[in-house]
Amino acid sequence: SDHYAVIGNPIGHSKSPQIHAAFARQTGERVEYGRILGSLEDFPGDVRAFVADGGRGLNVTVPFKQEAWALLADRSDRAEAAGAVNTIIVLDDGRLRGDNTDGIGLVRDLRDHHGFDFAGKRLLLLGAGGAARGVLPALVDAGPAALTIANRTPTKAVDLAAAAGGEVGGCGFEALAGRRFDLIINATSSGLGGDVPPLPDGLLAADGWVYDMVYGDVPTPFCRWGRGQGAARALDGLGMLVEQAAESFRLWRGVRPQTAPVIAMLRGDGA
Ligand code: ATR
Repeated sequence: SDHYAVIGNPIGHSKSPQIHAAFARQTGERVEYGRILGSLEDFPGDVRAFVADGGRGLNVTVPFKQEAWALLADRSDRAEAAGAVNTIIVLDDGRLRGDNTDGIGLVRDLRDHHGFDFAGKRLLLLGAGGAARGVLPALVDAGPAALTIANRTPTKAVDLAAAAGGEVGGCGFEALAGRRFDLIINATSSGLGGDVPPLPDGLLAADGWVYDMVYGDVPTPFCRWGRGQGAARALDGLGMLVEQAAESFRLWRGVRPQTAPVIAMLRGDGA
């Protein structure tokens, strides 16, 4: 069978091996998928060693996505736009190609699993670091009526919005007061410390949703904040995780697995 892995640091809690094992069972593809604790000093060396060992593809996670982008000269348009690589494909001649499936994973989870229609919606993206930048192109492509980026350090949101072009705006959190959004997506790392971004009250439109790109065994701080603000739906990022994995699997194997049963399995596990 062919070997794949996810590389990150830390990596112990990654659900990707479980997800890809489920995809392999479902599709009959002969795939083995492991996890690699990447070295903070020598990520390129870890990638080279995996490929030298016959590895066929890698998923790249925190904190290596930007480094993977810099390492690979051959990048897909969406990886190029995201400034980050989360999927490495080992081509038959041994060359490496970088892609990014995070943004499409987020959009598909919202659209296909939760029935969110982006048309006419006002979106707010929180954060301007790697996670926000990675999903921004796919959110623009999804065709919302308006997209605003807000960040603790406002200049980073302004710069990211300017780079995205078009109708995207950028600002700090306080400047959001009085505005209304149909969907607020949390792409900050504030939840890791148990925090939520300090947002004004009343940002959610009637029937507005919140989406946290991270997930947990219990509702995340941002999902709890959303409920407190009256969100009609408060979603975590487990569906995004499974959807980005399915798109990586398709790039590697040419087969698209079904995602709904795998999401259900992980939720049933208490994910
Ligand atoms: P990642 O790859 O997870 O995006 P990052 O590139 O370090 O990590 O970016 C972290 C993001 O979370 C940034 O937007 C950061 O805001 P700043 O740019 O002002 O640093 C945001 N962030 C981190 N902790 C936060 C907190 N407690 N409240 C609000 N935003 C926070």
